[in-house]
Amino acid sequence: MIQITTPQELRQYRKSIHYETIGFVPTMGALHEGHISLIKQSVRENDKTIVSIFVNPTQFLPGEDLDAYPRKTEADLKICQLAGVDCVFMPTTKAIYTKEEPALKAPKTTGYILEGYHRPGHFDGVLQIVLKLLNLTRPTRAYFGKKDAQQLFLIQNMVQTLYLTTEIVPCEIVREHDGLALSSRNVYLSDEERKHALLLSRSLKRAAKHIIEGERDATKIKTEMMEILSPTKVEYVEIVDRNFHLLHEVEINNSIILVAAYVGSTRLIDNMWI
Ligand code: PAF
Repeated sequence: MIQITTPQELRQYRKSIHYETIGFVPTMGALHEGHISLIKQSVRENDKTIVSIFVNPTQFLPGEDLDAYPRKTEADLKICQLAGVDCVFMPTTKAIYTKEEPALKAPKTTGYILEGYHRPGHFDGVLQIVLKLLNLTRPTRAYFGKKDAQQLFLIQNMVQTLYLTTEIVPCEIVREHDGLALSSRNVYLSDEERKHALLLSRSLKRAAKHIIEGERDATKIKTEMMEILSPTKVEYVEIVDRNFHLLHEVEINNSIILVAAYVGSTRLIDNMWI
């Protein structure tokens, strides 16, 4: 496994594997089983796998946890090595960004509702870094978790509308045995907070149960979820279709139920694809 830190080295490496299929897994490090499942899928499906580890400052809002964001470089490198990664790209901010950057704006509706409403500008930064990374790595396939459902949608939209050639591969959410969706931010949770964090997946499971029983009314489903989530500080509970249009009625095979809530000072998100 090679480790590189500059865009120039990455370009060089990319040239050397010109004829092979390339899988790319962009991450902000602090790798957990969720990331590992993306990496393993990439290793299975491509000749070469590139992983990037970069805590991207442009997707953090002022006052968010950019400085506190968990950084575990040694452990991350070990994980990548064991998972069969060929190249890890770990640039510095200075190597990636210049003072004079053309601005990339997330779409004005789907980029500014839900996560984008509560974190305005977040998706501008996500798209900016993902576009740079896709241009540098020019992968055959790039792997993104369904847990960041809106991010996944916006990246698919960017790839389509900017005519990029990479195939975006959505990957299933990985959960702890008790249902907690894996997240690098789970390390912030105390034992007590972790119990409340479980309410996110529990509320989604309850919603799914009602939908299986025939309920389609989004308001009713959301109201019950809000009750379950009451010990947390809910930011939103919403049901959208796969194009992120808000739904009043659940559509089977075309809906995503989304939740974002603070447990203590930790902001968690989760969702279920229906
Ligand atoms: O999902 C993430 O970890 C980040 O948003 C990503 C895609 C690596 C861009 O910084």
